[in-house]
Amino acid sequence: MRVVIHATAEAAGLAAADLIARKIQQRPRAVLGLATGSTPLAVYRELARRHREEGLDFSQVTTFNLDEYVGLPGTHPQSYRYFMEEHLFRHLNVRPERTHVPDGRALDFDRHCESYERQISQAGGIDLQLLGIGTDGHIAFNEPGSSLGSRTRVKTLAGETIRDNARFFGGEDQVPRMAVTMGVGTILDSRQCLLLALGEHKARAIRDTVEGPVTAQVTASALQLHRDVVVILDEAAASLLARREYYDQVERVRQELELAQADRAVR
Ligand code: GLP
Repeated sequence: MRVVIHATAEAAGLAAADLIARKIQQRPRAVLGLATGSTPLAVYRELARRHREEGLDFSQVTTFNLDEYVGLPGTHPQSYRYFMEEHLFRHLNVRPERTHVPDGRALDFDRHCESYERQISQAGGIDLQLLGIGTDGHIAFNEPGSSLGSRTRVKTLAGETIRDNARFFGGEDQVPRMAVTMGVGTILDSRQCLLLALGEHKARAIRDTVEGPVTAQVTASALQLHRDVVVILDEAAASLLARREYYDQVERVRQELELAQADRAVR
């Protein structure tokens, strides 16, 4: 895991957006895995700005979102489809038929989940998966205890997640109890993962994810098994990491190497 710590949440968000933008520049037909929540908002603002002001082109990009609440139609203001339209898709030139969010109102969830997995494979797999993290260490809606080999399916939300999300719904009793979510195994199949975490309330989950054992009790810890993961943090989210100095050292060495390479290229 590469752990990159930025002084502020804003800088961390910009760095994540930069990584995604570079992927699209290298590979215009990139398949992106996208996340919802407050964490990616700054990333999406920056991607929209780059499209508007710098012509970053999404016309050939395909997207797959991680999850959706069961029971909410895409027109519901708290649905993840609505979130994506509002905060990202309508600001880009991405083709609507290339954006995928699981359907919270599917008639047959087993079939819907199988078809979501199939669509990901048919698109060639996910090149870069953006992830946030729940305070209980979940990725997507893979709550503690989820199989680390799980695929897209319906999951029951944990009490901690319902409490965390109550603010968006005007009370705990309004939060849906279930969600359709990519599995941990689905996420691990992505070619690269980018985990973004901001704020002190994520510090414990990040410590457990990066420095704890791989365990289904903290599903984000499964990312330790992935060969290409970048964890981008602000200072607050990094505050409980024991090996902080080492992560900074690795980044310094990387930067020196990049500078030396750029210097050789110029000569
Ligand atoms: C939900 C989503 C996750 C997200 C998490 C954190 O549980 N399913 O994908 O990472 O919320 O949300 P926030 O970024 O608002 O803290």
